[in-house]
Formats: sequence, structure tokens, C-alpha cells
Amino acid sequence: MANNEILIEVKNLKKYFVKNKGLIRKQLEITKAVDDVSFYIRKGETLGLVGESGCGKSTTGRTVLRLYEPTAGEILYGGKDIAKLNREQMMPYRKKMQMIFQDPYASLNARMTVSDIIGEPMDIHNLASGKERQERIYELLDTVGLNKDHAARYPHEFSGGQRQRIGIARSLAVDPEFIICDEPISALDVSIQAQVVNMLEDLQEERGLTYLFIAHDLSMVKHISDRVGVMYLGSLVEVASSKELYANPVHPYTQALLSSIPIPDPDIAESSKRIVLEGDVPSPVNPPSGCKFRTRCRYAMDVCKEVSPVLKEVGKEHFAACHLLDK
Ligand SMILES: Nc1ncnc2c1ncn2[C@@H]1O[C@H](COP(=O)(O)OP(=O)(O)OP(=O)(O)O)[C@@H](O)[C@H]1O
Ligand code: SF4
Ligand SMILES: [Mg+2]
Repeated sequence: MANNEILIEVKNLKKYFVKNKGLIRKQLEITKAVDDVSFYIRKGETLGLVGESGCGKSTTGRTVLRLYEPTAGEILYGGKDIAKLNREQMMPYRKKMQMIFQDPYASLNARMTVSDIIGEPMDIHNLASGKERQERIYELLDTVGLNKDHAARYPHEFSGGQRQRIGIARSLAVDPEFIICDEPISALDVSIQAQVVNMLEDLQEERGLTYLFIAHDLSMVKHISDRVGVMYLGSLVEVASSKELYANPVHPYTQALLSSIPIPDPDIAESSKRIVLEGDVPSPVNPPSGCKFRTRCRYAMDVCKEVSPVLKEVGKEHFAACHLLDK
């Protein structure tokens, strides 16, 4: 259960990817993948992060872990800004922070045995060797519902769900505090998804883990998240507790995302209107001026073209960025 202590706080984080498109003359193309994002996560809490493909969820996660160099902003871990630490200074934080990826096959080295895959992070951080290392690997396999016999096998010998379990065991090998789960169940069969989510929840409970849980759609993060942030084109547009966000979404984009979740009960489905999002997501290379959502927003006003709305607290721990809330 989350306590009040904030473990991670991200302030005005930006990650721009710069590419030279010019053949003869220099012509820079700048992708504003993460554009001034701020949020916090308490110890033991799960913050869900949702939004359409390409809105910058993975880039946010990778930048927080310093797998990408931030373009600007602060990343406070336990109150310490890690955004500019050098390689050596980052080492203790690399052990505290881990990531689980969407595609467990691509993220596991196909030429390594399960034992070596799980043991590698321990070797990097000099945590255990010899018999102790082997014992810990067996324990971790047991923790994720696999067993000793799996240790000598290779990733291709496992199902998708089992591979994700190996990825989870690997992330736990260094006994981390904070794990970014980047769409960890999207590639799995629906029947397996709940098992993996339940396991992540049990692990959180047992080990006091803090999660940033990334997913495409709101229905997937509802269950696991204490709070949820909604991203659109590199910006956070709304953050609230899961309950509040589902009951009382105030940003037009969140409202549209929620209305697109299929409702199993036909009576309720009948009475709740679907809001259709028109048009495509604009490119983060050339995002709309002012509010980035304005080209698809049914409430867009003149001010939305000129002024970029900032996140404001609209209720207890409920933040949203929209000019409709300016009054
Ligand atoms: N390494 C990179 N180099 C250049 N551009 C990148 C890189 N990684 C991501 N981008 C761009 O940054 C934007 C955000 O991408 P990102 O992968 O963070 O989105 P996402 O929300 O995780 O999407 P998805 O749901 O599809 O995983 C996209 O326009 C993407 O093309
Ligand atoms: S700021 Fe304007 S365009 Fe943006 S979501 Fe609010 S009403 Fe829509
Ligand atoms: Mg992604």
C-alpha cells in the first residue's frame, strides 16, 4: 500500500529527438516526444500512464531511467536529481530502478540461458556469485511461478506468458525499488494477462515496489493503478486517482478515451454516448500551437490556438490541462 513519501518526482521533463534530414544543407527535424511532463509517484504506489500509440509513454519511461538522456527537466529519485548524474554516479540508481518490456521475446537475449539472463544483472552489480548466485536464480524462478528445471533452457522454449515471467524475474534480480512496466501484458493472450497482472500486484505487496505502469488503454490500467496519467502528443493532459478519473474525467481527451472502452452491459452501453475522436494524431515533429489536442477537440475555442494550457489542480489530487477549466 502506498504511504505518503514521494519516491519519484519528474519536473518539466523534455525529451526531443533530433535528426538531420538535409542531404547537403543541415536541416534538423525535432521530434518532441516528451514535452514538459511533470508527475510524482509515492512509495509503494502504481501510477498508470495511458495514451494512444506514439504519444511518448515509452520515451517518458526510458528517460526517467536515463536510458535516454533528458533534453531538459529534473528527475528526483528520493529527493535527489538524477537527470545529470554521470555513468558512475548513476550505478546505484540503476540497481534501484528496473524496466519490464512489452515484448518479452525481443528483450531477452535468445542466445542466453534463462539462468544467465536472470544472473546477468546480478553480475553487473556484483551481487552474488557461485552457489549463492545459482540459489538466487532458483528462488527468483520460483517467485515468478517457474522452476529450477527451466534455468538451463533458452527463451524460445517458452510461451509468451512464461517469457514475460522470465523478464520479471530478471528485473527482480537486483532487488529494485521502482519498476517501469512498459505494456507488459499487451503482447500476451487475454487469458494470460490477468495472471501476469496479479503476479505484479502480489510482488508489489510483498516487496513494497513502486510501479509506473504503461498501457495503451484505460481499461488495462484501471485495476492495477492507484492513480492514472493520460498523455497526448508528449504532454500529460490529466492525472487523478483511478476512481476519480473514471468517475469524473474533466479533460475532453480523457472523456473520449473513456467513452471508447466497450461496456459489457448493453443497458449501460445504450445510454452512454460514444465520443468519436476525429482525425489522426498530429505529428510530434510539428505539433499544433496552443493546446495540442485542439485539432481533434470538439470544444476548441480561439484561446486554445494561442495558449498552451497548463496542468492545474481541479480537485483533490486531480490535475488537468484545459482552458475549459480556466474559469
Ligand atoms: N529513439 C527514437 N528516435 C527518434 N524518435 C523516436 C525514438 N523513440 C521514439 N521516437 C518518437 O517519439 C514519439 C513517441 O514515441 P514513444 O515510443 O515514446 O510512444 P509510445 O506512447 O510509447 O507509443 P506506443 O504506444 O506505440 O508504444 C514517436 O513519434 C516516436 O516516433
Ligand atoms: S484547451 Fe481547448 S482544445 Fe484543448 S482540450 Fe481544452 S477545450 Fe479542447
Ligand atoms: Mg511504447
